[in-house]
Amino acid sequence: MHKIIIEGNRKLSGEIKISGSKNSAVALVPAAVLCDEKVSIANIPNISDVDSLEQILNYLGAYVDRNGDIIKIDSSKIENKVIPEEISKKLRASYYFMGALLSKFKKVEMYFPGGCSIGERPINLHLKGFEALGAKIEEKENFFRITADKLVGTKINLDFASVGATINLILAAVKAEGTTIIANAAKEPHIVNVATFLNNMGAKISGAGTSEIKIEGVKYLHSCFHEVVPDYIEAGTYMIIASALGNNLKISNIIPDHLEALISKLEEMDVPMQIGVDYIKIDSPVCLKPVNIKTQVYPGFPTDLQQPMATLLTQADGVSTIHETIWENRFLNLFELNKMGAKASLLSNSKASISGPSELIGKTVMATDLRAGASLVIAGLLAKGTTIIENADYILRGYENIIEKLSKVGAKISLEEIE
Ligand code: EPZ
Repeated sequence: MHKIIIEGNRKLSGEIKISGSKNSAVALVPAAVLCDEKVSIANIPNISDVDSLEQILNYLGAYVDRNGDIIKIDSSKIENKVIPEEISKKLRASYYFMGALLSKFKKVEMYFPGGCSIGERPINLHLKGFEALGAKIEEKENFFRITADKLVGTKINLDFASVGATINLILAAVKAEGTTIIANAAKEPHIVNVATFLNNMGAKISGAGTSEIKIEGVKYLHSCFHEVVPDYIEAGTYMIIASALGNNLKISNIIPDHLEALISKLEEMDVPMQIGVDYIKIDSPVCLKPVNIKTQVYPGFPTDLQQPMATLLTQADGVSTIHETIWENRFLNLFELNKMGAKASLLSNSKASISGPSELIGKTVMATDLRAGASLVIAGLLAKGTTIIENADYILRGYENIIEKLSKVGAKISLEEIE
């Protein structure tokens, strides 16, 4: 286990380079299993979620060569073994092996535990889509056995524009017989990144990034080289940090189009930004205006930036509100922020209000999930005195080299291993 220690209340200047997207990388690695030859993927972030997926690939007998930010994967000789719970429970994205192995072998057996601190996290939409394609599903106490004589393309209407279900159904449909249409598909950038990867192998996917995706089944997928898209949630997190403490802080290697919802909210807060082709420069303003945030599916305000944003709102001059429409329990960080002097209150399960500006004082606090952890890092950077963030392993799952990136721009932050 690890904890993060921060001496706060320091301005940050310089440049932070954004890494490859976690939520893209954790889909691309399982998708590589579909290729009948070797694939190479660059800009893979060095985060523990990718380590866990590499462990699953090794367990299945794939050839994996990970060197720096490049991973080479050859799944042509993998065995279709049951994926044990102790590996699959390490990250939600292990569910992408359901679509990938079902597509490759017409059979997948794995443990898949539901739930985490932000909510129930069901996979009913994934399973309904697999059944629509012709699969039979047996489930017993988190153990799933999904089989199909063959997978036949069909039209699938998603009740909700689920990111995971959209990607998993693309994986399941890419080698099916005939054409599959996914209606009400999610439009996040990582979906486009996965579809482009598969098309580079010879798949026939069109419409990724829109709410209707068409997949014409193919028989063979050949070798290719691909690159992970920059992580717009990591970028957004550092943009929020810059809005709080930036003194000419540059966040580079980003795609500003992916961050329009956040940029528009920061503009509403009077945050001065210089937006370049692949970077944003931010100075924290003397006074931040309060705003109302409502999380939506892409391209709306991302739920994954709601918790980091909550910390910035503690510094706004007035009352801000957050309406979380995606997850049913994504406000646990507010209780930790209040320990540090914030004035946040829950109005309902899905709504919170935050009044500011509040002076934050360093305390020992607990990360309850990845983005709650990010919210506490921002609070620690703002706070007077020392902040200790326990359960910091959550943060290491999604923010590559966060200690180095922040130290380089002037933060006093360190990581300590605890037994
Ligand atoms: C992905 O989760 C991300 N994770 C999440 O990021 C992100 O918050 C979420 O998309 C929304 O953008 C990865 O990509 C690995 P969903 P996912 O399916 O795919 C309900 C982070 O911090 N739902 O779009 O699990 C679900 O309960 C993580 O990086 C069903 O009801 O999200 C939720 O209310 C946290 N049935 C909503 O849809 C289903 O079968 C959104 O879920 C699937 C989802």
